Amino acid sequence: MELIDVSDELTFTLRNAAITYAMRVSTEGLLEQLYFGASINAPSPQPRPLRHCTVMFEDSPTLTLNELPQEYPTQGRGDFGSPAFHAVGADNSVFSFLYKSHRVEDVKPMLDGMPSSRGNGVKTLIVTLVDAVQHVEVDLHYTIWANQAVIARRVEIRNVGSTPISLRHVHSSALDLPPGDYDLQHFHGTWAREFNAERVPLPTGRFIIESARGTSSNAHNPYLAVMESGATETEGDCFGTTLVYSGNFAISAERGEFGRVRLLAGLNPFDFDWTLKPDETFATPEALHAFSRKGLGGLSHVWHDSIRAHILPERFHNAPRPTYLNTWEAAYFDVTEDKVLELADVASGIGVEMLVLDDGWFMGRTDDRRALGDWTADPDRFAMGIPALAEKVRAKGLKFGLWFEPEMVSPDSDLYRAHPDWAMSVPGRTPSLGRHQMTLDLSKPEVVDHIYGQLDAILSSGQIDYVKWDMNRNMTEVGSGAKAHRYMLGLYGLLDRLMTAYPDILFETCASGGNRFDLGMLSYMAQGWVSDMCDPIGRLSIINGASHLFPTDVMASYIGPSPNHQNGRVSSIRARFLAGVVSAARGVSLNGPEIAVHKDALTKYVQFSKVTARDMLGARFDRLRHHGNETIWQQTSRDGSTVYVITFQILNAPNLPLRRVRLRGLDQAARYTLDAGAIYGGDTLMHRGIALTIPTEDFAAELLILKKVS
Ligand code: DGJ
Repeated sequence: MELIDVSDELTFTLRNAAITYAMRVSTEGLLEQLYFGASINAPSPQPRPLRHCTVMFEDSPTLTLNELPQEYPTQGRGDFGSPAFHAVGADNSVFSFLYKSHRVEDVKPMLDGMPSSRGNGVKTLIVTLVDAVQHVEVDLHYTIWANQAVIARRVEIRNVGSTPISLRHVHSSALDLPPGDYDLQHFHGTWAREFNAERVPLPTGRFIIESARGTSSNAHNPYLAVMESGATETEGDCFGTTLVYSGNFAISAERGEFGRVRLLAGLNPFDFDWTLKPDETFATPEALHAFSRKGLGGLSHVWHDSIRAHILPERFHNAPRPTYLNTWEAAYFDVTEDKVLELADVASGIGVEMLVLDDGWFMGRTDDRRALGDWTADPDRFAMGIPALAEKVRAKGLKFGLWFEPEMVSPDSDLYRAHPDWAMSVPGRTPSLGRHQMTLDLSKPEVVDHIYGQLDAILSSGQIDYVKWDMNRNMTEVGSGAKAHRYMLGLYGLLDRLMTAYPDILFETCASGGNRFDLGMLSYMAQGWVSDMCDPIGRLSIINGASHLFPTDVMASYIGPSPNHQNGRVSSIRARFLAGVVSAARGVSLNGPEIAVHKDALTKYVQFSKVTARDMLGARFDRLRHHGNETIWQQTSRDGSTVYVITFQILNAPNLPLRRVRLRGLDQAARYTLDAGAIYGGDTLMHRGIALTIPTEDFAAELLILKKVS
């Protein structure tokens, strides 16, 4: 089967064993969308019923654009839905695209200056449309992989005229689904409460998730799932849409008066105005669409496989992550080189493999009011400097990690005093501070060069194994949406340079936790700090929510203090560990005395994390249950040999009934031992299920381990 078929009549069919995506050039020359969903042979165009009281396209008696699914719809010619593209030309803002040409490539042309998914075993269709009146061409890119239920889309827009045009809506993708009853699922939140799943019926009208905060944001992760309204975790058609982008975005779903459902994904049109001069090209970020017939769980599996294979840095693919001790909740800003060396000993004592020096190590940074931008070690507290300290830590047999927040500047810093114009601000307005800090203007190449130089000075010592890249405020006084996008291009350019120079350093993306947890950042950094919420109950729903899109390969979790510093909850060390147990990167952020109290348990958990490190990469993750009082997950190692079942019962009650849970995706014919004891058939575990212990306390957490024996 060819991945892309182009018929003589110009029907384009992208097809593999799991999905088909099809479009055709209509008799009017429009690029009409035909189908996206389960793999089928020959999708046909939709009927064009006679409509009353609507606008017909040009002189056609039966074609209203308000109903025709199009690949790149515009407004102003009879389609009154939200447009994928909108611009203002020399005379007016009416744009309309017709087919011009197409080509099929055996590769995926990479996106210059922005991250995008990697293509191997792919075909890419590029269809060029033209507006001959406004003199604009668009190249619509579609990539299909041989073995993934995912389509990548992006657009390049060219000004082929002689006057500038002003781009306003430049979505990466428009996707129409057939009329039907759908639900939407999205993930909203805030600091320390990220990734709350909300499922709502798709209304008639428009539902939009977006960010104008300068980051993709924790308010709405850039991910929207649309599913048949009866879909469950295991059954039903589900469509997922996300972007390989980390800044201002918008993803919307709109049901029109004829039931047409249009998904748009791309840069947020709010305040966006990009001047495209003659001969210039504008490239949108990449959008990804995934499909599964096997419910939301099936959709997650599609995403997980695809993100692992095509987004995450290849260097860290299936590379076990070191266990670590992070100084943040152990010491906050009260760090010195002696304390770090002491903590390194404590860390070694429980078997930890890496010491991460978090915030507080640079010029006078004794609280969050100063010094961002001055990335040299504080001479009072780190007299030997970071490379020498790192060397000492490494001499103890540990790796060394370091925290940076490179995109920021404190007003009280040498950098700001020297270059106040490098911070985002607009004339006549007092800059708005967030966490007492300002955002550096990464749209300026000299700012990017300066940041690169500062990081390079430390990283080039060769002593740094890991970097935590933080970003702790939303942007204000940016001035325009176009500038917010230029900022992202500056950031991606900086990350490209750093990753090229330091391919072996493991980077972790963080933005006050999950305020920029997206495929853009994860294209450079193999893992992310999902949330500052380390209380086990708080973290459960965050990991559960994030798992809809993200594989556990990208998650980092540590055992934090109890009572928890964010919500005050007291919890057992066991529950704190198990809430993060499926994460690829597992660690501890406790001080010396706290570690001493739990030394035996921590030693055991660290050892367990080391032994199971490979099983948390490339694994199949199933959300067996997540409601009310109970969360149950299943993590199956990629070779299928080990199955972890993690159960949490939040509040206890007397005389509870027996509980049982059915496992998923096992080998029906195989036998599995439970905790090296009883033997169960795979079919029994999946169809009858496994009995769970009756809890005896609040926040009861249990881990069952099944090993395949034959
Ligand atoms: C916010 C991060 O989410 C925390 O883990 C910690 O690194 C602090 N910033 C440091 O300021």
